[in-house]
Amino acid sequence: MAPSVLFVCLGNICRSPLADGVFRQLAADAGLAVHVDSAGTGDWHIGHAPDPRAQAAARKNGLDISDLRARQVKRSDFHRFAHVVAMDSQNLADLEALRPAGAAARLSRLLDHTDAGITDVPDPYYGDAADFAETYRLVVAGAAGLLARIQAELAASG
Ligand code: 4NP
Repeated sequence: MAPSVLFVCLGNICRSPLADGVFRQLAADAGLAVHVDSAGTGDWHIGHAPDPRAQAAARKNGLDISDLRARQVKRSDFHRFAHVVAMDSQNLADLEALRPAGAAARLSRLLDHTDAGITDVPDPYYGDAADFAETYRLVVAGAAGLLARIQAELAASG
């Protein structure tokens, strides 16, 4: 079965759609077939496209995330995805509370997969373009680290 990754933030319109788009691109570049999605712990933005500032940060880096639509994380996600990756520690705590007993998904924070020295991708929602540029930078670092980890696990499992 192809590896699967669900990226999760609060609103699913800023950080996790960027992680979704960036990871999708990195995996495609690496020739890795992987199922990728994103969701929010909150329900305010269900059905919305990514925040225009997130779309702009992506576009600046040659990435189009305009077709993504926000949804809320649900309990079945913990059965459907091998990796559920939170953008910050609050998202992780919310996911741990939602996770059904016995679900196989492995929970982590995106920056756990880097040596960035910080654990959380700061919420840029109340910030400006510079905050979104920093979000993009952190997301790229985390996505690259996660991809390397998944590739190493696939190699180890033969
Ligand atoms: P995200 O950012 O969690 O990175 O998508 C936010 C988007 C919306 C809100 C908060 C954070 N909000 O409060 O509506």
